[in-house]
Formats: sequence, C-alpha cells, structure tokens
Amino acid sequence: MKKIVILISGRGSNMQALLEAQLPCSIAAVISNRADAEGLNIAKAHGIPTAVVEHRDYADRDRFDTALAKSIDAFVPDFVALAGFMRILTAKFVARYQGKLINIHPSLLPAYGGLDTHVRALHDGVKIHGCTVHFVTTDLDHGPIIIQAAVPVLRDDTEQTLAARVLREEHRIYAQAIRWLCNDKVILNEQGHAILRHRKQSGFTLVSPGLE
Ligand code: GRF
Repeated sequence: MKKIVILISGRGSNMQALLEAQLPCSIAAVISNRADAEGLNIAKAHGIPTAVVEHRDYADRDRFDTALAKSIDAFVPDFVALAGFMRILTAKFVARYQGKLINIHPSLLPAYGGLDTHVRALHDGVKIHGCTVHFVTTDLDHGPIIIQAAVPVLRDDTEQTLAARVLREEHRIYAQAIRWLCNDKVILNEQGHAILRHRKQSGFTLVSPGLE
C-alpha cells in the first residue's frame, strides 16, 4: 500500500478530509511548520504520527527545507500532500520530490495563483471560481493540474461565504486526486499535462448566473 505524508500549517480541514476519506493508502504522518497548528490535534485524535519542523528555528529557507525533507523522508512516502502548507519551498526541495509533491490551491489555476484568491475573485467580479489540485513545480501554483472544481460566485457573496463554498469542493477533489495517484491512474503526457489512464471523460457545464 502506498504511503503519503501531509504537510500543514494551520486549521487542517483538508488534512482532516483526507484522513476521513478512506483512501487506498496509509497516511504515514502529518508534519507542520508551526507547533500551534490546530490540525496537529486532529491528526493525533486520528492516531496519525505528527512532527513539527518550526520554520522560525532555521536561519534560511534552504536549511528549513533540508530539515523538513529529513523529517518527511523518515516516513518513506510515495506522495507528499501540501494541505494549507503556507511556506514557499526551494527549487531543491521541489526537485527532490518531483512527481510526488501535490498541492491544493483555492482558485481555478492558472487564475489567481498566490494569496487572497477569494478576495481577488470577488474584486474582479468573476462569476465562476473554484479550486485545483496540481503537482508542485518550481513555477509557484503552476504545476500540472490533476483535478479542478468550479463553483458559482453569487451576488451577495462575501470572502467567507465564497471560501466556504470552495472549501467544500477542496475536500472532495483532494481526496479524489490522491485516490487516483495511489491507484496509479495519473500519468504525465508529452506536453507535461496530468491525464487519467483508462478513464471515460465526463462532467457538466456550470453556467453562472444560471440561464433562465
Ligand atoms: C485551503 O483553502 C487551501 O486550499 C489553502 O489554504 C487553505 C487551508 O485550509 N492552500 P485547511 O488548513 O486545509 O483547513
């Protein structure tokens, strides 16, 4: 059975969704860069080993990433899942886990990479927003996309209501992406795009606001 390590920095709701999704892999550990991350308690309550690599204890990004890699490698994972992990990783770290490092981002990439995605989407007046699971590359928030979910942006949305609608979908698509990865369903094609092996394409159109 494949093993994954989950990296968090805070609340840990995506991590919790993964712990409760009955994935076809074992969750070897949850590692946080902050000792006060609420998600650590959730992981412990699920009986998952936890570790903390405090970024503030390291003089620079390179030393932090080296310590983080050492902590991760002790669990010999097949995949490393970033779930609300709020540190930018060095190119050396990303290269070490090439094809094994995945992230969930709260926007329909390539739109709204970076922070404050919901506020920026509301500011622009877009009618559809969403979330993306992708492989991590050195190009921040731009690695091969595995799965995305789109949600409507409603007239009276606030940052909070929109974030909640997106987060519900994050929890669903992250578990799906990891299920596919652990079952060897995801491959990278010649264009560097992530595609699903042996999978009939399906889906439906989201029109927002809806047609009358
Ligand atoms: C999520 O919206 C995730 O997409 C983003 O940070 C948030 C983390 O939430 N990278 P949680 O810690 O998983 O609850």
